[in-house]
Amino acid sequence: MLATPPRSFLSRSTIDLRPSGIRKYFEIVATMPDVVTLGIGEPDFVTPSHIMEAGIASLHAGHTGYTSNAGLIELRRALNTYLQRLYAVEYNPDTEMVITVGASEAMFIALRAILDPGDEVLVVEPCFVAYAAAVSIAGGVPVPINTRVEDAFQVTGAQLEAAITPRTKAIFIGYPNNPTGAILSQEHMREVAAVAEKYDLVVISDEIYDRLVYGVEHINFASLPGMFERTILLGGMSKAFAMTGWRIGYVCAPAPIMEGIKKLHQYLIMSAPTVSQYAAVEALEHGEPDVQHMQHEYDERRKLIVGGFNSLGLTCFEPRGAFYAFPNIQVTGMDDSHFCDTLLYEGRVAMIPGSAFGDCGAGHARASYATSMENIHEALERLSKFMQRYG
Ligand SMILES: Cc1ncc(COP(=O)(O)O)c(C=O)c1O
Repeated sequence: MLATPPRSFLSRSTIDLRPSGIRKYFEIVATMPDVVTLGIGEPDFVTPSHIMEAGIASLHAGHTGYTSNAGLIELRRALNTYLQRLYAVEYNPDTEMVITVGASEAMFIALRAILDPGDEVLVVEPCFVAYAAAVSIAGGVPVPINTRVEDAFQVTGAQLEAAITPRTKAIFIGYPNNPTGAILSQEHMREVAAVAEKYDLVVISDEIYDRLVYGVEHINFASLPGMFERTILLGGMSKAFAMTGWRIGYVCAPAPIMEGIKKLHQYLIMSAPTVSQYAAVEALEHGEPDVQHMQHEYDERRKLIVGGFNSLGLTCFEPRGAFYAFPNIQVTGMDDSHFCDTLLYEGRVAMIPGSAFGDCGAGHARASYATSMENIHEALERLSKFMQRYG
């Protein structure tokens, strides 16, 4: 006799969550040893050795327990000094900062802290795959705001305003942007700020790529006039200091918002990894030359890959931040998923379809240049052969 299949034990909301469009590529690429990958959004550099040593020394010194919930006070003070030096914004280390398990945790607890079920968040796309998912997991409703290459992926105040409803609670932006490499101009930042003020909204600003900008200055959203009170800043050590595996991020917000965020962090995480927090202190206090060095290297790679795409007929928007290029692939006559599949299986180069980052990313593909010059040369050579066939 056939047994009755067990009912699904998963919640409706988990079943409804769309799987990340990136994962599929990583899983396939892992089985293909001869592929040059431009897929991975993480530094290829190893964490600078003095930062590692600081972590190791903390273990030998016996710092193997929890830290304070909000993170080591030394780290919060170092972060305050760092943000003040760079952006002239000041967060009280006691009441306005929490050290998190990557910017990933920061994003989830920030959203969970501000959203009631059904609250809407305007999510500016294309963007990091987790934004919309995080809004849904927190019980909110992500409302995509599409940006276009023709507008240099800038979001306008008018676009945001057109999407406002009585349920709108927040605007979620991420610049320098993953996947486009766009930065948000000061003029457009001011438009976002004006809408936030007019409709009394929170702005969640994911600035994890703040240190990776090329020929432009990063502007911290909270530093705009009137914005400190309504901005939740997300950031972390992963990208600028090549510390993805250490899992250290942060969330900064004015005290009344932080009170709520802190409660969630306490119950969920207790405290971020202690060894990594000691390493992060060293990074913030003495890691500036490393950041400069890696930023310079990324810039060289950026020029190579963007020039390469353009010369192959894959028109590429000039990225000014992060470590991604986002060429238009429509000249091949394929959609972005078909392009990435064909390029992977026939050309042996891995890129990610632009539509994985929101519907408005369609027609593009993301290439990460956080990989060696040698790999970029090889990828461009393979792409050149591919384009002879499909260009
Ligand atoms: C835009 C953006 N935000 C957040 C994250 C998560 O970073 P973390 O390693 O700090 O969790 C990433 C990682 O790729 C990212 O690209």
